[in-house]
Amino acid sequence: MATIGVFDSGVGGLSILDEALKQLPLHHYIYLADSANAPYGEKSASWIANRSLHMCRYLVEHGCDAIVVACNTATAEAIAQIRAELQIPVIGVEPGIKPAAMQSQNGVVGVLATEATLNSDKFNSLLATLPSQCRFIKQAGAGLVPLIENGEIESPAMRTLLQTHLQGIVQAQADTLVLGCTHYPFLKNHIRELIGASITIVDTSDAVVRQLGRQLEQHGLANEAGIMSLNLLSTANGDTLQAMAERLLQTPLSHRSINNQSLMI
Ligand code: DGL
Repeated sequence: MATIGVFDSGVGGLSILDEALKQLPLHHYIYLADSANAPYGEKSASWIANRSLHMCRYLVEHGCDAIVVACNTATAEAIAQIRAELQIPVIGVEPGIKPAAMQSQNGVVGVLATEATLNSDKFNSLLATLPSQCRFIKQAGAGLVPLIENGEIESPAMRTLLQTHLQGIVQAQADTLVLGCTHYPFLKNHIRELIGASITIVDTSDAVVRQLGRQLEQHGLANEAGIMSLNLLSTANGDTLQAMAERLLQTPLSHRSINNQSLMI
């Protein structure tokens, strides 16, 4: 059994943890939310890189055998440094613009992500490798993460904000929408209502967890035996994180020992 660290700026990475608990249930998970500092998406590249590295070092010091950087923003700004420093498998998350370009029929793809992700070199280098006939309508989801962190997932404020952010993508007649932030899958129902049934929504959680599974195999960490447990660590409030996890995770947690902690790191 492996100890797997899952890190995000806040509760967004729970969308990746949910998929991990589905596909790879028999491991020990440590979920680390830097909710005291969310959102990352409007901070500077160097701040995001330093803080993400600090959070991942903490996970290694606390026994993680593998880490999922379950945050597109942290992956964009810090994954190279994290991989260079840490000796364990590190899996990142990127907006699924490549599968979206392949799936799109009309060549118009919307990308909803944080400002930092959309401005990052990593994202723009990936974009440059894709066919030029595909048009990407990039939209920064300013304000969405703070509302989600606040538990306002179905609030009228969320609906108004989403409507504003999705307007340009709908007007451009995109037939595919990439959710380029791990917080956004929790808005799927809302987004679906606003964009209609015909637009394909691309979210990469499934692919990320399959990659985690392959890495565990390759590093001899795939053995699934032991006591399943989930530690929920938050730099804000551990109880709030646990309440959000119980609300947002679809995977039953009944066979798992769960505890939470508020951290000052
Ligand atoms: N969940 C994050 C992402 O995937 C970060 C959002 C934020 O903190 O701005 O980008």
